[in-house]
Amino acid sequence: MTARDLIDEAVAILQSGGLVGLPTETVYGLAADALNPLAVAGIYQAKGRPQFNPLIVHVPDVESAENLVETWPTRARQLAETFWPGPLTLVLPRKALVPDIVTAGLPGVALRCPAHEVARELLRRFGRPLAAPSANRSGSVSPTTAQHVRDDLGDRVQLVLDGGTCLRGVESTVLSLMTDPPTLLRPGATAVEDIERRIGPVKRLDPHYADDAPRSPGMLSRHYATRTPLCWLEPGLSTAGKRVGLIALRNPGLPGYAMVEALSPAGDLREAAANLFAAMRRLDAAHLDAIHALRFPDRDLGLAINDRLQRATHG
Ligand code: TXA
Ligand code: MG
Repeated sequence: MTARDLIDEAVAILQSGGLVGLPTETVYGLAADALNPLAVAGIYQAKGRPQFNPLIVHVPDVESAENLVETWPTRARQLAETFWPGPLTLVLPRKALVPDIVTAGLPGVALRCPAHEVARELLRRFGRPLAAPSANRSGSVSPTTAQHVRDDLGDRVQLVLDGGTCLRGVESTVLSLMTDPPTLLRPGATAVEDIERRIGPVKRLDPHYADDAPRSPGMLSRHYATRTPLCWLEPGLSTAGKRVGLIALRNPGLPGYAMVEALSPAGDLREAAANLFAAMRRLDAAHLDAIHALRFPDRDLGLAINDRLQRATHG
């Protein structure tokens, strides 16, 4: 097959909700259609991620980035002018069209315009943004060759586009523009000193100090618990005299619930993961007194779902 045929095949896989191994200048990514929650759930499944970390959304240009965010501030314009395409990821307030599963419920979306020609060509031809974490199984090191990706993910990824060895070999720098001054969330292939030369001081996160700055997404997750008290459905818990919602894989048909969110009537954990955050929001919007969660199977994406619900439990 020619390179062009391979890109066509990659586009077809992405359109059908599948996964493609994608070379970038930093590390290989595991890409899916960022606007298709079910496709994005497939990323977590293939990586075996026990929790939902937010994913970087890759775009071919500034215009595509601007379509996904509420604002494109001066600093974003300056940084994109200087460092895009390249290994700098910017976090900005997302528009509602960015699915919750991409940002793990966070209010910001991380945007990156990669410099690798294969990544750029695929983004242009696909015509939609691509969510892509590093293409390794959870807990392994990031892949810098197509062979690493195949070794690590095997048949969990339909196609790996081979773009040679990644020139940078270290992930992009992640900078949040949702704080003033901006916050360095992850040091990476773009030097923070170079960023500061362009936009002025950047706040570095000191892991030893707790303050009001955004920290690692794992710690941020409490933020995105439902406002309505949520707890695991344990024996003896009652709904008497209260309006209670239930979140579960399938509808267990229990009496007394005012609202039930069955995330996958077919029992498909990938479908359930794709529906989780939106279901939590719907329950939260229903002015219930409480939300009960029925534990998901402790395997596959059920681990990530249970992790998220556990974080959402109040006390
Ligand atoms: O170079 C890279 O950035 C590579 C290539 C494939 O683009 N991607 C990558 O993705 O390293 P991943 O998932 O391994 O790391 C993404 C980082 C994590 O530290 C994550 O917490 C942060 O970006 N991140 C993603 N979305 C975020 C958001 N909405 N808010 C805050 N942090 C976010
Ligand atoms: Mg990674």
